[in-house]
Amino acid sequence: MPATSSPVRFDPARGLAVLRTPNSVYVIRVGSDGSPRHVYWGAALDTDDLAALPAAHSPADSSFEADADPDELAPQSGARFGPAGLQVRYADGTRGAQWTFTGHDIEGGKLLLRLTDRRYPLAAELVYRVRPDSDVIERWVELTHTGGDDSGPITVDRLDSASWTLPTLPDYRLTHLVGGWNSEFQLRRDRLPVAETVLTSRRGLTSHHANPWLALDDGTATEERGEVWTTALAWSGSWRVTVHRDPVGRTTWTGGFGHDGLSWTLAPGETLRTPVFAGLYTPGGFGAASRAWHTYVRGGVLPDPDRDRPVVYNSWEATGFDVDHDGQLRLAELAAGLGAELFVLDDGWFGARTSDRAGLGDWTPRPSAFPDGLRPLADEVHRLGMAFGLWVEPEMVNRDSDLYRAHPDWVVHAPSREATEQRNQLMLNFARPEVEAWAHHTLDRLVRENDVDWLKWDANRVVTEAGWPGQRDPDRLWIDHTRAVYRVMDRLRADHPRLRIEACAGGGGRVDLGILARTDQAWTSDNTDPVDRITIQHGFSQLFPAQTMATWVTDSPNVTTGRTTPLRFRFHVAAAGALGLGGDLTHWSEEELDQAAALVARYKEIRPLVQRGHQHRLSGPGGVTAVHYISEDSTEHAVLAWRPTTRFGHHSPALALPALDPTARYLDPDEGTTYSGAVLTRLGIDLALPDGDYASSLIRLRRVG
Ligand code: DGJ
Repeated sequence: MPATSSPVRFDPARGLAVLRTPNSVYVIRVGSDGSPRHVYWGAALDTDDLAALPAAHSPADSSFEADADPDELAPQSGARFGPAGLQVRYADGTRGAQWTFTGHDIEGGKLLLRLTDRRYPLAAELVYRVRPDSDVIERWVELTHTGGDDSGPITVDRLDSASWTLPTLPDYRLTHLVGGWNSEFQLRRDRLPVAETVLTSRRGLTSHHANPWLALDDGTATEERGEVWTTALAWSGSWRVTVHRDPVGRTTWTGGFGHDGLSWTLAPGETLRTPVFAGLYTPGGFGAASRAWHTYVRGGVLPDPDRDRPVVYNSWEATGFDVDHDGQLRLAELAAGLGAELFVLDDGWFGARTSDRAGLGDWTPRPSAFPDGLRPLADEVHRLGMAFGLWVEPEMVNRDSDLYRAHPDWVVHAPSREATEQRNQLMLNFARPEVEAWAHHTLDRLVRENDVDWLKWDANRVVTEAGWPGQRDPDRLWIDHTRAVYRVMDRLRADHPRLRIEACAGGGGRVDLGILARTDQAWTSDNTDPVDRITIQHGFSQLFPAQTMATWVTDSPNVTTGRTTPLRFRFHVAAAGALGLGGDLTHWSEEELDQAAALVARYKEIRPLVQRGHQHRLSGPGGVTAVHYISEDSTEHAVLAWRPTTRFGHHSPALALPALDPTARYLDPDEGTTYSGAVLTRLGIDLALPDGDYASSLIRLRRVG
């Protein structure tokens, strides 16, 4: 099959489906039992290779094993003993599915495999979509109850988006992200045990604690080389991914929305569609895997990838809940003077919200703080040449609020249980149509009346006592709440084409491919300490491009860690993403303000590379951490390097830049020095890091000749 032919082929005679991406091939075989089975995912194979695929059989020749390749979506039935991606129950108590393959469809890069249960009114479509010019394959499932009204409901205990399988490797290593509030996106790389390893969020949000992204390799891949298989789920509620390394040497994983113990009642005629679970293979190591994800997020996920993310000023760390018109205007004037392009009024502007104990849900400006409403501030901010942004937390309510007093039944709660408060707040049940309608109406009005260009959409608690009084299928809220959040965001964006949205959940508690399909960037972490941020940003960059990573320069000592760091170091760390300012500028000295203005201007010079270029991580956290950004046409380069501590007074060695072209020459436009690419790729560049702790540098290079 020539490389230019259709990325998707299906050979009905052999039941073989082949998906091709620039660097990989994915092969599925519909077996004699009607179930689509996994055959191969990895480096490209040509058509002749595919003609003679080995027959399916389990490595363990035993009557205790399944004698078939792993399923593309494992039902809970037959000789299958690993984690099931499809768990259903019929009215008579029977579980699982025994499929008949009823056909396929190909449309461009999309393949659809149709399955029907042999005995029960259940049909599934397994969908695969190859993204153009990308190694990413998107997968999802649509499950339909095909019976009539008299056939009774089918209970879905689990419907994953996809199961994935690795070729047999000598060993397996799992890379994933862990953390908590203030410590999100910490990268873990551990040998995969012979066991089932569950990555999950049971919180109703993606969570600070884990992210539905992972990478697998044989334990030898590096940043620059080696085979890596990696997947990411586009879902912002609870989720579960189970990686199963079995004792005979196979590794599969299955994942999707929801967590254990939830069920969905599928009514006759109803279809349940899963979120996308995307996967990619690369032979180029973890760095290439991240760049492939970044290209995909920019080309296939983000609503507006080519627009520069503005330099934001956000008032939260400066003023907390103590906000009013004059104070915010003063900050806006100072921020505009530093080159900020967007001013965001954070929490505390509405209702009785002078602390986190009251007012949440009452989205009207507090008269004592904003006597004429928000519009005068918005107009002033616009007059200063900045966009105007507003913090909202529409999914939440304080008990002490007019909204709660009027609609106590709108909160997620089980009537016979005491509702747990987190940050003195409860969660609104967006799965209720009237709550979704209220949220849309409220936000639409706020945006319209105040000429709002930007919403920072926050969420500061998770789901507990997940009841829904009066609803016969209360578990639905786990999925329908998230879907409603998506719908409200989508409608707002459609009705207000200029509006941009920043995702936030107490920092990085809801960052995933699902939320990024309707937001522009995410608030990475409430921890703005630059040393901790190096680790957090390193993890974040594994999946998400820099333009989605909101980073602020805040005051020193840092409010979270108490650490004192120089302004330049704070800026250089924040320059690795969508840079913003978050300190109390009224306390910055003239000298600091001048330095900050110069550093913002410097950031704007490299912004196109950071936000839209290719990112090469040169070294991870510990010692000197460095990242190299390359413009799309490979001519402009920026290197950011950070060294939090010195050791033994030793100077940092030169840093090799392996992503440069060894045959080219490069000019440092700031120093006027020209370098040979061969020297820079092999011997490296002197980072000119100042002596002492919290040293950093920003080097620009331009390809010449
Ligand atoms: C949590 C966010 O992450 C902060 O940036 C800030 O907006 C606060 N909420 C406000 O309550």
